[in-house]
Amino acid sequence: ALISLRQLLDHAAEHGYGVPAFNVNNLEQMRAIMEAADQTRSPVIVQASAGARKYAGAPFLRHLILAAIEEFPHIPVVMHQDHGTSPAVCQRSIQLGFSSVMMDGSLREDGKTPASYDYNVEVSQLAVAMAHACGVSVEGELGCLGSLETGEAGEEDGVGAAGKLSHDQLLTDPEEAAQFVAATKVDALAIACGTSHGAYKFSRPPTGDILAIDRIKEIHARIPNTHLVMHGSSSVPQEWLAIINEYGGEMPETYGVPVEQICEGIKHGVRKVNIDTDLRLASTGAIRRFMAHNRSEFDPRKYLKETVTAMKDICVARYEAFGTAGNA
Ligand code: G3H
Ligand code: 13P
Ligand code: NA
Ligand code: ZN
Repeated sequence: ALISLRQLLDHAAEHGYGVPAFNVNNLEQMRAIMEAADQTRSPVIVQASAGARKYAGAPFLRHLILAAIEEFPHIPVVMHQDHGTSPAVCQRSIQLGFSSVMMDGSLREDGKTPASYDYNVEVSQLAVAMAHACGVSVEGELGCLGSLETGEAGEEDGVGAAGKLSHDQLLTDPEEAAQFVAATKVDALAIACGTSHGAYKFSRPPTGDILAIDRIKEIHARIPNTHLVMHGSSSVPQEWLAIINEYGGEMPETYGVPVEQICEGIKHGVRKVNIDTDLRLASTGAIRRFMAHNRSEFDPRKYLKETVTAMKDICVARYEAFGTAGNA
């Protein structure tokens, strides 16, 4: 059944678990997510980015998610729009039947340039007014995602061009978060706490605390009824990187956010955990390996099936680690 983000995350908060929000662009990702959820009895958040809409087309994406709900009627599913760059984008998703939208007003409409606090409040208020009138939830964002190690924003954020971010910019301010939530009434808030988008988060193996857990605790204490969202939460599985490189890939050494550290965040109010890169890596590794071993094969279903299995394994592992399993 289709449910809103607020409904799902209220349940998650009450029972102390987190929910991975997987990006979806195609049938194979959708199947992997749903089969993993079915196997572990987990509620689901699937999210579509602007890039996904461009790739698959909005109607195909919408019906892919609706098909998932039809085939797995016993699984609660949140249909979420990832990183909306304006209230108009959110409005179109609401019209399409999404049960949750992200209004990312931390960036200007170009999706690259950091925006002012006042701009962020204004566009988030507009999105909330429309969404809440339709029973749709809203995720806002406050702060600039970027690595505390390098001061560099993730690739998709494009802030890199504007120069390195200061330590202050890289962590959401708890007081400002409280003001922002009071002014906008967003249901969930994406915070900057040391993660960044994409595969290149950390150049050295993350030892010790790479996330600002104390900052997460402070923010959660100020806004206990607003669900915290951690973007850039891929763990960049080293086994899949090795497979990609063993079978013809050329990816440099890189590390993601260790699952245990995400779990630490979940103990302190993180409820939605955004993951895209990990499924991309598994998918690419599975295809490269299959192609190398089956040189005469030309039926795409053969290698696409390998991607479903590879992605499903990651989904199962995250549902289990985050405590999502058993809650559907
Ligand atoms: O936050 C970005 C997500 O990983 C989606 O990426 O815009 O390439 O679909 P995309
Ligand atoms: P990753 O690039 O770490 O998978 O993050 C995805 C994300 O935050 C989508 O909004
Ligand atoms: Na941001
Ligand atoms: Zn994101």
